[in-house]
Amino acid sequence: MSSSKKKIILIGAGMRGRAYTDIAKDVLSDTFEVVAVADPNDASREHVKSKHSLPDNMCFTTWEPLLDMPRIADIAIISTLDRDHIKPSLLAIEKGYNLLLEKPAGATPEECRAIQRAAEKNGVFALVCHVLRYTDFFIALKKIISSGEIGEVRTIQHIEGVGNVHQSHSFVRGNWRNSDESTPMILQKSCHDMDILAWLVGKKCKKVQSFGSLSYFIPRNAPEGAPERCIDGCPKTDCPYNAVKLYYDDKDNSWFRNVSTGLLSPTDEDVERALRTTDYGKCVFKCPNNVVDHQVVNLLFEDDVTVSFSMNAFNKGGRTIKIMGTKGELNATFGDPIIKLYDFLTEKEREINIESGKVDDTIVGGHGGGDTGIMLALRDLILGIPNSSICDIGESCDNHMIAFAAEESRILGTVVDMDEYMSRFD
Ligand SMILES: NC(=O)c1ccc[n+]([C@@H]2O[C@H](COP(=O)([O-])OP(=O)(O)OC[C@H]3O[C@@H](n4cnc5c(N)ncnc54)[C@H](O)[C@@H]3O)[C@@H](O)[C@H]2O)c1
Repeated sequence: MSSSKKKIILIGAGMRGRAYTDIAKDVLSDTFEVVAVADPNDASREHVKSKHSLPDNMCFTTWEPLLDMPRIADIAIISTLDRDHIKPSLLAIEKGYNLLLEKPAGATPEECRAIQRAAEKNGVFALVCHVLRYTDFFIALKKIISSGEIGEVRTIQHIEGVGNVHQSHSFVRGNWRNSDESTPMILQKSCHDMDILAWLVGKKCKKVQSFGSLSYFIPRNAPEGAPERCIDGCPKTDCPYNAVKLYYDDKDNSWFRNVSTGLLSPTDEDVERALRTTDYGKCVFKCPNNVVDHQVVNLLFEDDVTVSFSMNAFNKGGRTIKIMGTKGELNATFGDPIIKLYDFLTEKEREINIESGKVDDTIVGGHGGGDTGIMLALRDLILGIPNSSICDIGESCDNHMIAFAAEESRILGTVVDMDEYMSRFD
């Protein structure tokens, strides 16, 4: 073991935690060393244990005993579920750990600010996993804006297509389906977008307005005679959300098969059991979901820059953006290496190829390089290497506030003044 390596403890070895620590081992083993893991799921914990050759006494079934010990590492990765960030984060900060903290940083504005204040007070960093900032794609957009080629940005249209099947898996059947158990969709899924839009605009957000609802994945849209569980035989044979088709028949979808069973190498029998006993087997119109399936947000930034954002389930998935400036227009789709620029003076379009080639922008595809990008940023931050994508926890929390304000606007039907909103959590 080289003593110069930065040590990491992992709290929450689920899909995200394993992604980051796998990268630490596979790509950045000169810099990082994972020294402990906490997770109640045997399969997840064993994966980390074996990947990093951890001794038994450094593998815990929950974070409390790990954080009860004196600090044993430089960084704690906090990748438990949304409502379980706050407690381990505050304790880890108090112990002097720097954090790589999954988004949303906290489940409420108060939690976000509490983590920010604790990090500032204890002189540690909390790098929030806003992975889009670390992709070649969004770094290229930021550089183009900064170059002045399209002039001053006046307005942006941004669409986040969640994807109909992804929506059904995560936000109808899965962990993030109900904001009373998790967090609102605009925070959970789109705090990335609020963050990236604020970063691209580079100005303070002044006002927020939002509309949206859960309108499709609800009981009244259930097919006539549909059973509670697809596996019990649904009369609608052409449903794109049939759980047997998505989880059992599609043997290549390890994401869905792993998550539904809680196992890393499930058999067909394991998947069948999950379809009979967990909500992943339920009809999408009969789940205990309440998060929206479509939501729009209008943002007003300083200097009258306007942004319109649309998040919805009714698409294949992916993000597209149109940035309109005083000298030209930019059109781009995340995952497509070609960015198109139209110049008002020459009336010509030019294409920029961001060279990374076609990237997989999905969660299982590592978010278009963002998962590796944030681990490289973590290295830069801890070694003091400049990295213009990194922001401090204060800026991350300010950008989370835009999402919280959008949810307030959606529920109350108001336009939220951001100065007033922020002042509530000073
Ligand atoms: N940055 C991104 O793009 C992105 C993408 C997806 C999810 N997320 C966020 O990452 C977080 C984790 O999501 P995930 O998909 O990995 O979920 P997950 O369910 O796969 O992982 C959560 C893990 O926490 C573990 N856990 C539960 N109680 C624990 C305890 N007491 N101590 C230690 N571990 C405990 C669970 O067993 C599980 O393995 C969530 O907050 C989610 O919103 C971020």
